[in-house]
Amino acid sequence: MKFILPALLLPLVLSCKHEPPGDWSVYGGTKDSRHYSPLTQIDTANVTQLKVAWVYHTHDADQKSTQIQANGLEYEGIFYGVSPKLKLFALNAATGEPLWVFDPAPKGTNFDLSVCRGLTLYNGGGEDQRLFFAAAGRLFCIDANTGKPKAGFGDQGSIDLHQGLDREVQNLYVACTSPGIIYKDLIIIGTRVNEATPAAPGYIRAYDVHTGKRRWIFHTIPWPDEPGYETWDDTTAWRYAGGVNAWSGFSLDEQRGIVFAPLGSASYDFYGGNRKGADLYADCVLALDASTGKRIWHFQTVHHDLWDKDLPAAPVLVTLQKDGKQIDALAQVSKSGYVFLLDRTTGDPIYPIPEIAVSTQGALPGDSLSPTQPEPSFPEPYVRQHLNEATLNRLVPDSSYQDLVKRLKTYRNGLFSPPSFQGTVVLPGFDGGSEWGGPAYDSASGLLFVNANEMAWILTMVPLSEKPHAHQTNLEAGKALYQTHCMACHGPERQGSGNYPSLMDVSKRYTVSTFKSLLEGGRRMMPAFPQLGSSSEEALASYILNDKILQLKAYISPEDNLSPFDQMKYTNTGYNKFLTKEGYPAIMPPWGSLSAINLQTGKVVWKDTLGDYPEFKAKGIHTGTENYGGPVVTAGGLVFIAATRDAKFRAFNKRTGQLLWETDLPACGFATPSVYRYKGKEYVVIACGGGKLNTYSGDSYMAFALP
Ligand code: HEC
Repeated sequence: MKFILPALLLPLVLSCKHEPPGDWSVYGGTKDSRHYSPLTQIDTANVTQLKVAWVYHTHDADQKSTQIQANGLEYEGIFYGVSPKLKLFALNAATGEPLWVFDPAPKGTNFDLSVCRGLTLYNGGGEDQRLFFAAAGRLFCIDANTGKPKAGFGDQGSIDLHQGLDREVQNLYVACTSPGIIYKDLIIIGTRVNEATPAAPGYIRAYDVHTGKRRWIFHTIPWPDEPGYETWDDTTAWRYAGGVNAWSGFSLDEQRGIVFAPLGSASYDFYGGNRKGADLYADCVLALDASTGKRIWHFQTVHHDLWDKDLPAAPVLVTLQKDGKQIDALAQVSKSGYVFLLDRTTGDPIYPIPEIAVSTQGALPGDSLSPTQPEPSFPEPYVRQHLNEATLNRLVPDSSYQDLVKRLKTYRNGLFSPPSFQGTVVLPGFDGGSEWGGPAYDSASGLLFVNANEMAWILTMVPLSEKPHAHQTNLEAGKALYQTHCMACHGPERQGSGNYPSLMDVSKRYTVSTFKSLLEGGRRMMPAFPQLGSSSEEALASYILNDKILQLKAYISPEDNLSPFDQMKYTNTGYNKFLTKEGYPAIMPPWGSLSAINLQTGKVVWKDTLGDYPEFKAKGIHTGTENYGGPVVTAGGLVFIAATRDAKFRAFNKRTGQLLWETDLPACGFATPSVYRYKGKEYVVIACGGGKLNTYSGDSYMAFALP
């Protein structure tokens, strides 16, 4: 039988033992989001001897499209993870032998699998250990010992996240990709929602871990009489506006009872004519009373965001020395490459974060730009924030470089340059700077380890001249609907963009009916479009599946039920990276990096390229690659990170940045490692799911340990 204590007593008991606790029972290691392990068995001297301890295959990957982004948990000898198709599983943490599997997808149903970045474990003492995880817009509560749903939670073990949002969103996309956090007997969760309109609001909710009853809700888009309401010029925004969601997880100051939420931008990401104003609490670090959901403070990192500068990861709770005093602070990384250092209790900047005047010229018609933006003076940014001739890629032939120079001149450029019809350089890009992997923090050295992307993207806007209307043919309506709802990801010619696939030959793989199911259910990073309705789905199908008979039929129902607020006037032509003719990033390397920032001095003490392109590596050039997933720092002196496009797993010396160990993974490890000890042995586990950045998919979790 297992040895279990109420969660509150656990730290006391463990601190009496001589060894530090060795479980990894919280997403990212600890509730302060430090990605820190106190284990020392694997260290800078012996890391080169690491061997594969076990491999677990989930056997449900699709060749090129599935992913595993999950950071698995380990608690008292059991390892919990999630498969590419979101099956929850439990393994023996020492051998990788399976104990049970829970499949959230009811057989034969159309099920949105979204992505799942991790789990939340609640320990109620005795035999009451519950795992929470989300799939298909539902939050599941599973008995961690048996793998069976906890029938007393919600509706037979799960709740529908579309419900209890204080707004009618049954027909809108609501998913949950990052795990919630436990405070006492509450699970606090956020959501992923549509980034175009109409979108569900990203309200934060807390549920009773036993019953699934909603205990509080925080309106991240404030209602009349709630503070922040006045920051939306349109007085109807609170009824229609969506986004402003905590999609990337939470941190908790357990002693103070404060939960910190990093918030995303308001929907639609790239045009704000219907949401003029600062748009609180978009792009805020938000501190809430964890037991009541009442706002304590907020700090907005981008005003009136038009670049999708979501806060991509939970803030790290740190303690800093300043002027001889200890300050409990938090470090919030961003897509822009800034670290925001804020006082945990007041939200005040620890060092000045001046409001810098930015140009208000050049907004799209009907929109207006914020005259200032906050720019932290300390620490220094960890990625480049400006593209110019000197920072364009010189590794390509000169004619290619000259082509970049020419193209760059045609774009708008600069950190807060507005979206434009001619194209605007977005650097750091839509995926950072930082992404959902988040950083790691080592309090002994005061170093914050941040992996980042350094990729320039081109954001090009187009007017949506035509609204789909009755009296059109399906084909005409389908094209208009495509522009409104799909082009932003799949590109104007359906050729795909960024991480989004081409739709040129989908007629080979889809029938009208399976196509409709895809739109209703969504799949991983493809949101669902439940708001479209059958006739709009058919119009889209006629266009995309090139079904000649369907194309000539008359389109029946126009999108006439949309509020004026939700009618999009402009859209983007895809998520397009700024690349050379050869397909390399237009910016000079590094394209991916790992930095160690000293939070006491504000300096980047070391910065390595992270990842390689074999063709450049052969010439001795380390370029780094785009990367997804985070690092873990250990008391053994190491920073473990996978995350790169070259499918390697690496360990760096945390003090010097020296690469000490690297090994090949069966597929890219776009996830954060888990580090735990069981029966005296330290393990490091990474999910190898691939599938992003045009890499093949994988189905394994790999554990490493000393022989
Ligand atoms: C937010 C970005 C986004 C938007 C908006 C979007 N998609 Fe997608 N779409 C994706 C992603 C990502 C995938 C790949 C999903 C996966 O992992 O399998 C995808 C996949 C698809 C596929 C399957 C492709 C294949 O080869 O199997 C079809 C069909 C599709 N989308 C159609 C649409 C249509 C129609 C719309 C508009 C109504 C739309 N998408 C809007 C991101 C998007």
